[in-house]
This record gives sequence, structure tokens and C-alpha cells, in this order.
Amino acid sequence: MEKKDYKRTLVTCALPYANGPVHIGHLAGVYVPADIYVRYLRMRGEDVLYVCGSDEHGVPITIKARQLGCSPQDIVDKYHNIIDNSFKALGINFDVYGRTSSKTHSKNASDFFKKLYDEGKFITRESEQYFDPQANTFLADRYIVGTCPKCGAEGAYGDQCEKCGSTLSPEELINPKSKLSGAEPIKKKTRHWYLPLQDYEQWLREWILEGHKEWRPNVYGQVKSWLDGGLQPRAVTRDLDWGVPVPVEGAEGKVLYVWFDAPIGYISNTIDLLPDSWEKWWKSEDTKLVHFIGKDNIVFHCIVFPAMLKAHGGYVLPENVPANEFLNLEGDKISTSRGWAVWAHEYVQDFPGKEDALRYVLTANAPETKDNDFSWKDFQARNNSELVAIFGNFVNRAVVLTHKYFEGKVPAAGNLQDVDRAALAEIPALRDSLASNIEHYHFREALKDAMSIARVGNKYISDTEPWKVAKEDMERVATILNVSLQICADLAIAFEPFTPFAAARLRQMLDIEPGWEDFGKEEIIPAGHTLKPAELLFTKVEDEQIDVQLAKLDEIRKRREAEAAAEAAKAVVPQKAECSFDDFEKMDIRTATVLEAERVPKTDKLLKLTIDTGIDKRTIVSGIAEYYSPEDMVGKQICILANLAPRTIRGIESKGMILMAKQGDGKMRFITPQEALSNGATIG
Ligand code: 2FM
Ligand code: ZN
Repeated sequence: MEKKDYKRTLVTCALPYANGPVHIGHLAGVYVPADIYVRYLRMRGEDVLYVCGSDEHGVPITIKARQLGCSPQDIVDKYHNIIDNSFKALGINFDVYGRTSSKTHSKNASDFFKKLYDEGKFITRESEQYFDPQANTFLADRYIVGTCPKCGAEGAYGDQCEKCGSTLSPEELINPKSKLSGAEPIKKKTRHWYLPLQDYEQWLREWILEGHKEWRPNVYGQVKSWLDGGLQPRAVTRDLDWGVPVPVEGAEGKVLYVWFDAPIGYISNTIDLLPDSWEKWWKSEDTKLVHFIGKDNIVFHCIVFPAMLKAHGGYVLPENVPANEFLNLEGDKISTSRGWAVWAHEYVQDFPGKEDALRYVLTANAPETKDNDFSWKDFQARNNSELVAIFGNFVNRAVVLTHKYFEGKVPAAGNLQDVDRAALAEIPALRDSLASNIEHYHFREALKDAMSIARVGNKYISDTEPWKVAKEDMERVATILNVSLQICADLAIAFEPFTPFAAARLRQMLDIEPGWEDFGKEEIIPAGHTLKPAELLFTKVEDEQIDVQLAKLDEIRKRREAEAAAEAAKAVVPQKAECSFDDFEKMDIRTATVLEAERVPKTDKLLKLTIDTGIDKRTIVSGIAEYYSPEDMVGKQICILANLAPRTIRGIESKGMILMAKQGDGKMRFITPQEALSNGATIG
């Protein structure tokens, strides 16, 4: 199958952070492709171990706990269960789904660090880190907030501004404050352990750039650019009170960096499952290790973790890391913090019995080579016009007709005609292509192969029309249905990795348990075999169901817009340079009333206003048409700067300026006296 003679395959999936549920982006990027791969290998009789678990450390979990007034353990307990259950509901059944807050992991990660420490594989460095003098603790970058230097948004984090997406360092924030106490952070010296990645650079170059040219171009390219940029020492410890304590003297108050301990979690979870035989999976040269991850994890799985394993010694390295790009949702980046997502646990509640439909659409649309988009309309179309109308329809016709004409017994085939042979002859090539595509991590293409088999079947039964032939030639009907049922059996094998629930129902309906070795045979189901009653493999997704989902997203979009507007409204424009009393005295500000108002032709923003200033009646052109219609303005008492030098705007002489207040969201509102005054009252 692959170049080396492997005896077993160890498949890991990125450990999801237990600070929120998993969403369709996670599923499409990591878990569905991994599951397809594992199910396929199992069908081929391979020895496979499928490992995952929750990533329960890191700063975001501590922030969430603080926000909700509970402990980090409470947070991870809650999300660990939600995530675990949603994977199971979608048919993603890991051999072990562990947790990095487990005792086994704490010991294993600690021992791993200690071995590297004892062997002098780390360097230490002293650096200045931000410290909260009131809370008496060092501050992770996420714990420092301030004004974004790039876009001016308040509440930007010390590592990133969520408003404009800029990557930041705490030093760049304007007016930085600790999220814990609100105090201004100070710099304080601290010592940390670093893995000198540059020492592994040459080895990584040979191992990946020379030895793994077959890796996906996005993975290979990212690794190459890291290596070409030159590797730097990476801190593997942090000043934090949530995580695996650093097991050396003088490291009180420090824990292992989450990205040091998380990948070790793959090993810890294996130990939990197989305390006596885990080493066979992790330490034998004939284990093929494959990491399924998203593109944001590439550097950790292709550079940092391999360097850790190399430094430790004795462990196998990944044979491949088929990282996916990102999935967007209805044209926007999926974001847990902004709530822009379709959550796995909500999907399984909203679409009971349609787990396969999600797996199918996420695979058909998988972001294997570039970012892709999920839209509810596309989901509905693929379900209804592919799963229901092609795969489901074909199987249903074959099984229902067998019950109708042959009391559910598979009829014997007579002499095959060209059309029969042609249909059957397509299967072996599609089977081989499907296998090769999965083995090369081309899951979208593999799904197309499986779907092509359904298309072959559907076309075959449509072309041969057994319901018509039944009027004159039952022997011929027997042959057509026999051939159709063999193709149904092929589908039960082909779709097992992609839509396992439907594949199981199909096996049950056909009452067979075919293996991969049966795939493409002319007779998988023997004549005379009795089928179970027909049942629908797939059902339609109705417009109303899609409308509910779109309305949900619309809610989120509106809430986000309202929040953004409220945030923007808070933004205060900095005070202008000082002005002297004399400067102020020069301004003649008065009350006035709008007598007439009309739009200035061919402009969106300008209104021409006729004003009673108490001194005279005059024209002022004002850029307020975006906020007020002419009708809104007539009769309103306003304030004006009466002695502004006249200006000609669009051919109209404007004498004066209407005073407007503008807040952070950019909206303008005119200023009106609290009670009606005579026109021309002076303001100052
Ligand atoms: O990006 C993430 O969601 C990380 N929690 C993945 C960790 S993968 C592994 F290293 F544990
Ligand atoms: Zn910004």
C-alpha cells in the first residue's frame, strides 16, 4: 500500500480545545477525513489505532473560567463531554478519547520533559514578561488588553486584535491593562526553558524536504517556509497556574506550555487505553503514524513535535500529516469566539438521522487544497439531489422491485447483455481509484468514485427499465435486478467510510456483511438470498429546515453587528490640539430653525437647507442626507456656526455650518437646544 512495509497504522486527530464545542470546520478539517481513513483501513483488514482526546490546558480555558466565575476544570469537564458525545453521534468512534487533565497525561508529559531536561536538551533564557503587580502574577499575552495600534479598537488582546485581525505583541498595545485587575502591567524578569529548534533544522530539512516530497503541497510548503526562515529556540514553559507543573526545582508557578504537552497527549491517551502494549504503537519502526490536523497546527506537528520526539528518542515519526485548509461558513470565517459556526452537537439535534448527510457534504466540499465554503443551500442541494436522488433512489428501486416481483428473493441472472456487462465492468476501476485516493488522502476524489458507482447503478436501472420489461420478460427482469443488487452490495462497501450509518442500513436491508474482497465481484449476493424489507437510505432536507438554520445565522450576524456598533460607539476621538480663548471667541455660534430642506441633486450626502438665523434667512449646505431626510429637518431648531466663511458647494453658496455630534460608529446627529429658544440666541 505505501512505500514501507508497515504492520500497523496509528492515526491521531488534533486534540480539540475543551473551551467550546466542535464545529463543522473542525469536522471537515480533521475528524471526518480521519474517520474515512480509519474506516477504510479497517475494511482492508489493517491493524489500526485511532487516538484523540480533549486538549484541556492553555490560557483561553483559564480566561473562560474567569469570565464565567468557575474553575478551568469545570469548563473542560463540560466541553469534554459535549465534544465526546458529538463525535460519537456522528459515527466518529475513536479507540480512545482521553483528556490532557488526566493523571496519566500529567505524569507522561512531566516525565517527557524531565528526560529532555536531564539530558540537557533544553536551554534556559531570562526574559522580561508582563506582570500584574496587583494580582501578583505574570500575564499571558491574552491577559493584556488595550487599544489596537492598527485600527484603534478597544479591547484588543496582547497577541491579536479580533477587530482587524492583526497579530500583535503586548508592547504594541496602546494603554495596556491587565484583564485580571485592570492594573497597568509592569515588566518583570522570568526564566523559561526553551527547545533549541535550530539544532534540529538540518535534520528536519533532510527528513521532510528530502524524504517527504509526497506530503501535501500546503503542508510541505509551510514547513519549507519555516525552515527557510530559520528556526529559533521555542519556550516550552509558561508562568501560569493551569497545566502540567514543570517538574524541576525552581520552577514553582510554571507549567508546560500547552503546545508542549498537548501532542504528548496522543501518547498518554494510548497509554491509558493500552497500558501494557502502547509502546508497540509508538516505538516500533513498523508503525505508520499519521496525524490529521488543520493548517494552523502544521508547525507544531511537522516541526515542534517531531523535534521533541527526536530529542527524546525511541519514538516513531509521522509518515504523513495530511493537514486541511479552512472551511468558511456562508462566506465568512468560522469563529468560536464570535459564535459564527454550525456546532456539531446542535446539528445532530436539529437533523436527527442525517448524520451521514453532514459527513457527505463536508467531504464533498472538503478544504483539501484551498479554503472552502459551507452553505446551507449547498448542503440541502447535495443531500437532496445526490444522496436522495441518486444513491438512495437507486437502492430503493432495486430492493422494492425485488420484493414486488420476486418476494424479496434475489433472482438468478440469466444471460448478461452488453448493458449489464458494461455496468458491472465499471466497478473494479472505480473501486481501485477509490482505494488509491483514500490511501493518498484525496478524500473528495474518493467520495466521487463512490458516488460514481451509485450513478452507474442509477443509470443502469433507469436505462433498463425493469418495471416496463416486467410486462413481457420476467427472466430479463431477474437479470436486471440481480445486477442492480450486486451494485447495491458494492455501494454498501464503497460508502462504509463516508456514510457509515447508511452503509450499515444497506447491509442490513440486503442482509449481508460483505468485505472489501467482495467489492467488484459479479456475484456478491447469491441468487435465492432473501432481502429484508426496503427502507429509505436518505430523506430530503426541506426548505423549512434550511430556513431555520439561516435564521439562526442571521441572528448571530445581527448580534455581531449590534455589538460592533456598540463597541464603535464607545470609541472616543482623541482631543484636538489646544485652542486659545481668543480662537473660541471668534466663533459665532447661534440657535436657528430650518425653514426648508431639499436634497442637492446627484449627491447622496448633501441637503440644501434654508435657515432662519434670527439675523437673516440664509442657505447652508450640509452633509447629513445619510442620516436625515429633508422632511426630518424642516421645523427643527438647530445650532449653527454663523460666521464661517461662505463656501460654494456644488454650485450653491453655503453660509455657515450646522453643528453635528459624531460618535464612534460614524453616525451624525444635529444638536438642538434642550428647550425652544428664539432664533439667533448666542452660544458660548
Ligand atoms: O488547535 C487546536 O485545537 C489544538 N488544541 C490542537 C492540539 S493538537 C495536539 F497537539 F494535541
Ligand atoms: Zn485592530
